Amino acid sequence: MDVIDIASTQEWAALVDGHARDLNLRSLFHDDPGRADRYVVTAGDLRIDYSKQRVDDATLDALFAVARAAGVEARRDAMFAGDPINATERRAVLHTALRAPAGVVMGPRTTDGTTVNVEPDVHEVLERMGKFAERVRSGAWRGATGKRIRTVVNIGIGGSDLGPAMAYRALEAFRHPKIECRFVSNVDGAAIAQATADLDPARTLFVVSSKTFTTIETLTNAHTARAWLVAALGEKAVGRHFVAVSTNEAEVAKFGIDTANMFGFWEWVGGRYSVDSAIGLSLMVAIGASGFTEFLAGFRAVDEHFVSAPLEQNAPVVLGLIGVLNRNVLGFATKAVLPYAEELGRFPAYLQQLDMESNGKSVRLDGRPVSTDTGPIVWGEPGTNGQHAFYQLLHQGTEIVPADFIGFANPHHPHRNHHDLLVANLIAQTEALAFGYDRPDEPWRSFAGNRPTTTILAPQLTPFVLGNLVALYEHIVFVQGAVWGIDSFDQWGVELGKELANRITPELSGDERGVHDSSTNALIDWYRANRQA
Ligand code: F6P
Repeated sequence: MDVIDIASTQEWAALVDGHARDLNLRSLFHDDPGRADRYVVTAGDLRIDYSKQRVDDATLDALFAVARAAGVEARRDAMFAGDPINATERRAVLHTALRAPAGVVMGPRTTDGTTVNVEPDVHEVLERMGKFAERVRSGAWRGATGKRIRTVVNIGIGGSDLGPAMAYRALEAFRHPKIECRFVSNVDGAAIAQATADLDPARTLFVVSSKTFTTIETLTNAHTARAWLVAALGEKAVGRHFVAVSTNEAEVAKFGIDTANMFGFWEWVGGRYSVDSAIGLSLMVAIGASGFTEFLAGFRAVDEHFVSAPLEQNAPVVLGLIGVLNRNVLGFATKAVLPYAEELGRFPAYLQQLDMESNGKSVRLDGRPVSTDTGPIVWGEPGTNGQHAFYQLLHQGTEIVPADFIGFANPHHPHRNHHDLLVANLIAQTEALAFGYDRPDEPWRSFAGNRPTTTILAPQLTPFVLGNLVALYEHIVFVQGAVWGIDSFDQWGVELGKELANRITPELSGDERGVHDSSTNALIDWYRANRQA
C-alpha cells in the first residue's frame, strides 16, 4: 500500500525545526489573553480546551500541514467509504457504519468500486438485540426453571470485554435496578470462580462474546461456566442461559449455543472498535435499547464532526496532531488519561487497548520500518485518587507526561459538595501543571510547570456523552496512525505470545518437553516440580 514516510517531508522538517520546543505556557498565556477562547473545540456535548498544550498558531499550522502531507483527510474518507484500509488483513474498517443513521448506504467497497451495503444487516442485528434486551429486562425471557434473570455475565476478553465493562461501569446510573452485569475476562480461574460464587444459576445469563470464537481464554471460561450451570440445572438448561456474540456461527454452534440466540457482527469491525456492535449486548440489557440508541447517537455526532469540520476545528484532528507533537517533537513517551469521575474507572484500561493495540507498531503500511516514534504508553486512574499516588511525578518528576483531564458539570449522586471539590481538584491540577510555582529559596517546593494538559468537559456522563468520548478517542488514534503511516487496525503483535503459550501448556502437566532457551526451561521445570496435580 502506498504510504509516505512522513519524516522525509518538508512539512515534518518544518514542524521539527520550528520553535515548539521553546514554547512555555507561562509566556504563552501572558502574551495572549485570548488564548483560552481560541484554543477550544467542541464535538458533540464535549468542550475540549487545549490551551494548556504547548502550541501556538505557528506550531498548529505546522501540524495541520503535516496532516495534509500525510493525507489524513483522504485516509479518513477512505475509511468511511469502506476501502480496505486495514491492509495487512485486507479488510475495510467500518465501525462507523454501526452507528450510521438508518437509510445511509455504507459498507466495504469492492475492487470494482461498488459498495456492499451493510445498513440492513446492522439494523437487523440492532433490532434483534433490542428485542432480546427488553425481554430480559421485562422478565419475558426467563431461565430454565422459570425464574427471572438477575445477573448477566459477559465472558470475553480484550475488545470483547473492555468496551462493555467500561461502559457498564460508566453508565451504572442508567442501568436496570434489578439486573447486574459482571465481566469475566482473565483465564485465571479466580475470575470465573469469583464472578459466579454468589450467583444463583437459575437467575444467571451468560453472554459469550468473542469475535473469532476461538480465543482460548474466553472458551476456557465459557466451558467452565457451562459446566457450573449444567451441574445445577442440567444440560437442557443451556439454551436459556447462554447466548453468543460473534462473527463465527460454526464455532458458536460447536460450543452448543443455539445460533438463534447468537448476535452477529462482521469482520470489518475490529475488536477494540466493537463496543457499539453486538459486543455491547450486556450493556444494552443494562441500559435498555433506548439507552443504547442514545449511546450510538453520541458516537454518530462525533463521526459527523470528524467527517465535516475543517481541520482547524476538528477535535480528533487537533488532539491527534497535538499527540504527534508531544510524542515526536517534544519526546514525551507516555500519556495519562485522568477522569475525574469514579464511573470512568475502566476508561484508561479501555483506552490502553484502543490506542496501544492500534498504534503500538514499528512497521509502516508499506512494510518498511517507521522512522518516527509511534503510539505512546497510555495509562491513568481516576482523580482524585491518582493525586495521592503518582501526581508527584507528574508535577516534579524528570519525565513529562501530557495528560487528558475529563470531568462533568453534574454528577449522578446528590452530594454536590463532593462534586464541587472533585471539579476544583481537576481544574487546580491543570493550573498547577501548566504554570508551576517558583520557590528559589526551597527548590524542593518549586514546580517548573509547562506540563501540557487537555481538559475535556461535558454537562453530565450520559450514554450520549460516553459515545462522544469513545468516538473522539477512536478518531484521535486514527489521525495519529495516518500520520505515522501504520496500520492501526491489525494486531499481529499479540500472536507470538499466544502461539508459545499453546506450545507450553501441555509441557506443564505432561512429560513432553519442547525446545526452549535455558531460562524458559528452568521456569517450566520449577513449575512442574511445584505443581500439585
Ligand atoms: O488481543 C488480541 C485480540 O484479538 C483483540 O484484538 C481482541 O479484542 C481480543 O483478542 C479478543 O478476541 P475475540 O473477540 O476474537 O475473542
